Amino acid sequence: MTMIQFPKDFIWGSATSSYQIEGAYNEGGRGLSIWDTFARTEGKVLNGDTGDLACDSYHRYAEDAALLRGLGAKAYRFSVAWPRIFPQGDGELNIEGLEYYHRLVDELIANGIEPMCTLYHWDLPQALQDRGGWGNRETIDAFVNYAETMFKSFQGKIKTWITFNEPWCVSFLSNELGDHAPGNRDFQLALNVAHHLLVAHGETVKRFRELGVEGQIGIAPNTEWFEPFTRKPEDVEACNRRNAYFNNWFFDPVFKGEYPQIALDWYKAKGFAPPVLPGDMETIAQKVDFLGINYYTGGVGRYNPEGGLLEFEAVDTGMEKTDFNWNIYPHGFLTILNWVKDNYGTIPVYITENGAYYESEESGGEYHDPRRIEYIRRHLIQLYRAMESGVNVKGYFQWSLMDNFEWAFGYTKPFGLVHVDFKTFKRTPKDSYYWYKEIIAQGGFEI
Ligand code: FCB
Repeated sequence: MTMIQFPKDFIWGSATSSYQIEGAYNEGGRGLSIWDTFARTEGKVLNGDTGDLACDSYHRYAEDAALLRGLGAKAYRFSVAWPRIFPQGDGELNIEGLEYYHRLVDELIANGIEPMCTLYHWDLPQALQDRGGWGNRETIDAFVNYAETMFKSFQGKIKTWITFNEPWCVSFLSNELGDHAPGNRDFQLALNVAHHLLVAHGETVKRFRELGVEGQIGIAPNTEWFEPFTRKPEDVEACNRRNAYFNNWFFDPVFKGEYPQIALDWYKAKGFAPPVLPGDMETIAQKVDFLGINYYTGGVGRYNPEGGLLEFEAVDTGMEKTDFNWNIYPHGFLTILNWVKDNYGTIPVYITENGAYYESEESGGEYHDPRRIEYIRRHLIQLYRAMESGVNVKGYFQWSLMDNFEWAFGYTKPFGLVHVDFKTFKRTPKDSYYWYKEIIAQGGFEI
């Protein structure tokens, strides 16, 4: 028997995001976001689902806080809908929006749960998109102004801030691949978006320091690891390119003040470059207090001259999959964590997301989801290995507290520890909720 024992002060938590759970899309003075628009565009979201009602957390946040308390969670990672605070993105402030998040945060604190706030989890105000969105450099100023408003209003209440969730999704998934809002298919635009977002991140960290905000601030990129199918140099290079495109593109600027050369060279040869102005890289490289890591999947890849811009393709080596058809690759999690330490040092890390979509089986009002439990268990084992190897991990936030709107897949891919009935909004903890509760209470488990 081996004991997987996490430190006493380890921060166990769970995560959600505004558009995925809040609903009340036209209440409390909220402006529209790009996801309201995208979800209403035919063919973009499965079944035409929208976040109009979602989990109705805007009204049921107290129930959510009670569920977190029941779980024994130490912290809750949620995000703020920018259009609730500034319905037009900039300009007039909507006090009602601020008041909603004060109610939520007060409720969390009253339940002994530390709030971790993400400022941007994809719901850009539509009014800003109408002016070019993240493709327009002016969006940086609007974001910093919004962030400053949040810092000042929640001074002393929220002590952990995340600027951006998954910059790869905001830029490449949404503007190169077109799968997420605003749904563009333009590689140069994706590079512009990525760059402006990184500068916005750096400017926000700067402002955070200037204002002397009490607490810590970081960013939460998503990570995937691809290992080469063979050791042939072309396969190794193709994976290096894929990893640089997905991971280093965001990590290197933040921690080293430069874009990864391998990707820069590759893009340049194809006529693309990020729109860097003098001083930008220094701005982006502001010291952060911690790093958030989202990890779900990865796999094996190789060179394929037909494999799109990167000339890369994934190879299905028969790895077990979740019901989302994502590879279950816990070893990739370990590799990513060790890679973080080797390349960027012992910065404090929070696992800001990790989890899986699985169908659960309902019987007699109970929801059985043994494969979700197994998925989390396997990833916690790798997390422990990384920590024992010196990766400075401070906490783990399971995705997600409850079933919710899974972006382009609507309500068809529930990731929750808690089942949500999307007609009645009734919340029912699944087996995984009770299992995770036990892990939190014990601080570990035996393998
Ligand atoms: C991540 C997102 C999160 C959720 C999970 C499944 O990419 O950050 O909102 O959709 O995937």
